[in-house]
Parts: sequence; structure tokens; C-alpha cells
Amino acid sequence: MLQDKTILLGISGGIAAYKSAELARLLVREGCSVQVIMTRSAKKFISPLTMHALTGRPVYSSLFDSGYRTATAHIQTAREPDLVIVAPATANILGKLTAGIADDFLSTVLLAVDLEKCPVILAPSMNTTMLENAAVKGNIFLLGKRGYVIADPNDGDLACGETGKGRMVEPLELLELIKKKLFSEKDYQGVNVLISAGPTREALDPVRFLSNHSSGKMGYALARAARERGANVVLVSGPTALEPPAGIDFRPVVSAREMYAVMMDKLEKADIVVKAAAVADYRPVENFSQKIKKAGEMQVNLVRNPDILKEIGAKKNKQFLVGFAAETEKLLEHARKKMEEKNLDMIVANDLGQKGAGFQVDTNIVRLLYQGGFVEDIPLMTKYHLSHLILDRIKDHRGR
Ligand code: CTP
Repeated sequence: MLQDKTILLGISGGIAAYKSAELARLLVREGCSVQVIMTRSAKKFISPLTMHALTGRPVYSSLFDSGYRTATAHIQTAREPDLVIVAPATANILGKLTAGIADDFLSTVLLAVDLEKCPVILAPSMNTTMLENAAVKGNIFLLGKRGYVIADPNDGDLACGETGKGRMVEPLELLELIKKKLFSEKDYQGVNVLISAGPTREALDPVRFLSNHSSGKMGYALARAARERGANVVLVSGPTALEPPAGIDFRPVVSAREMYAVMMDKLEKADIVVKAAAVADYRPVENFSQKIKKAGEMQVNLVRNPDILKEIGAKKNKQFLVGFAAETEKLLEHARKKMEEKNLDMIVANDLGQKGAGFQVDTNIVRLLYQGGFVEDIPLMTKYHLSHLILDRIKDHRGR
């Protein structure tokens, strides 16, 4: 996907520098040329030889290396890439960039990059207290305002032994961000994408309902990502606390039967259907018109709701159909079964038992299953970046 692209990877001196080796490897595997610039401190954490071997290009470091082609190597180096990423970006390099200081090769090249023509991603990585220091915070804020793309650090265990925000965004996630920035050229232009999201509510009486913990975050992130890439998006959503993304056709529903009706209505025009909704499988037999008053023991009888995805699977013609499987055990076995029974082209399986996966949280850890039995393990990443990855995979598999 990234063939013919040149990426400039700036590495400054932080523990997360070792992850940049993986990022370089991923980028090279995608077919792009990677030019690495390391600061003096970065070389204390990872060897330039490693980066040279991974990228096939000598690493640039000092302003006055004898190997450079001309005395204005910083300008040439800044003109060459399609995108620049600084990962990890330390407090120091962020501070220099904010203040316009150019005292080594990386900081000089960064000032020479034309932001109008070449996106620059900064992936901060540092201890939480440093990240929250007013100066650093202010610098990140200013850089974001000036058009730099900030890969907001993750929460988690830090190299210093503390836990908190400051972990550099994972390489695979950075790769998705890079693709997103490079291909904001709308690879989904004209494609009709129908997405369902959130829980459904099955009323028992005017004040009570059966539902589940779905927040809708995954489906909304998918809708936003597809929209950003130019798709015509219809988002059919059960009740959530989220703001629908701008520029889409938003269809709020409450119950599974309402979701069913809207999905079926919109199916014909769809090229891709993604069912991220957590649909209630059952609803109360009776929906009482008045509030039920308590009186001793009580039993609620339930009837099955339509399986929307299964019906779409049986009916589909041109549509590429993606389902979700949220499981607490036997993830692959259950996901495979759903894929087969519902006639899906792809299923996104998540293990609800894993920390950072499933309902309510902003991140997910999933396994993607494709027709033919192929399984791809995706590490923890934000639902937004995962959405772009899922759209990449749909694009690849739809063409087959
Ligand atoms: N789904 C649906 N309609 C239903 C139930 C589920 O369209 N009535 C869809 C979901 O949107 C999801 C997929 O089917 O994409 C799997 O949902 P899940 O709740 O994991 O599984 P179920 O098929 O309901 O099976 P079970 O509850 O037995 O795990």
C-alpha cells in the first residue's frame, strides 16, 4: 500500500526508541523507503546499524557528516519524504520544535519541512509527570495547533516503573496513522458503507428495559474512519452517549426490531455492511403499557429477536459482510461458527476477558478471521486506529 512513498523517521532519545525499529520494519514491509535520522541521545538507546540494516539506508545524524551530498543536506532531506514521523518524540525535541531551535540534524530538518505539503506526526513518549509539565503540555498543544499531528501517548506501564500516560503509541498503530495521513485522499470515495453500532434496548414497561454494556464506540469509530476516507456512511445506532460523526446519515433506533427494519431498508444500496452493534438476542414477550408494580417473586418470559446479521448473510448479493463476535470463552471456535452460520466475509472477534478489549473502553484487542480460515492477531490499539486497519483489510479482501 505504501509503495513509492518515502517516510522520514526521526528518532530522539527515549526508551521507546527500540519500538522505532519495529516501525521501520513495518514500513519497509509495506514497500516504502525509510530514511532514518537519529539524535545523539537516540544512538545511546538503539544502534544506527540496526536502523541501517532494517531500512537499507545509512542513518543521518549530524549536521556536518562527511557523507552528505551537499552543504544543504537538511533542505534536501526535508524535501524528499511524503511524510515525517518523530517516534519517540522526547520533551526536548518537542521543545526545540516549538521554539524553532535547530541545533542538530533532526531539529534542523524538522524546521525545513513544509507542513502544507508533508504531514509531520509526533509520537511523544515520556514519564507522566513530564508529559503533564506545563511547558511540555503547552508545547504539544501549540504544535497540534500549528498543524503537527500528535499521536497521543497511551496509558500503561512506563520504563521508569511508574504507571500512567506516556507510553509511545504502538508501531502498528503508528503505521495506521501514517496510512491515514497519506491516504486522506479518500480511498472509499463513492463506496456505500452501512454500519450498526451500540446496544439495543428491549422494553419491559415504560421505565425498564433489557440491554447490554455496549457503548457504541467501535461502530462510531468505524463510521468516522469510513467517512474520513470518503465513504457514504449510514450509521444505524442503538442508544449511546456518543455524538454521531459529522457528514453521515445517522439513524437512531432503540430496539432490535427497529434496527432490523432500518438495516433491511438500507441493505440494497450498501456495498459494505459492518455489524458492530450488540443486538439483544431476546426481548420480553410482553411490553407492559403501565409501570410494573412490585408484588413478590416475578418472572419475565423472553422471545427471540431476529438475527439481523444472519438474515443479511442469507440475503446478500454484492455486499461485503463484516460481523463482530464478542466472546468470553473459546474465541476462535465461536467466531468461526458465527462466520459460517451468518455467511460473513470477515469477522472481528474480541475476547471480553482481556484488559483493554471490548465494551466501554477506547481500545480493543481483536483477532480478524477471513474466509478460507486465515486468522490475523491485532494487538491493543485505539478503536479509531483499529477502524482504519479494518477498512484497510476490507479494501484488500473485497478486491479478491
Ligand atoms: N447480531 C445480529 N442480530 C442479533 C444478534 C447478533 O445482527 N440478534 C450480530 C451482531 O451485530 C454481531 C454478530 O451478530 O455482528 C455476533 O453477535 P454476538 O452477540 O457476538 O453473537 P450471537 O450471534 O448473538 O450469538 P451468541 O449470543 O450465542 O454468542
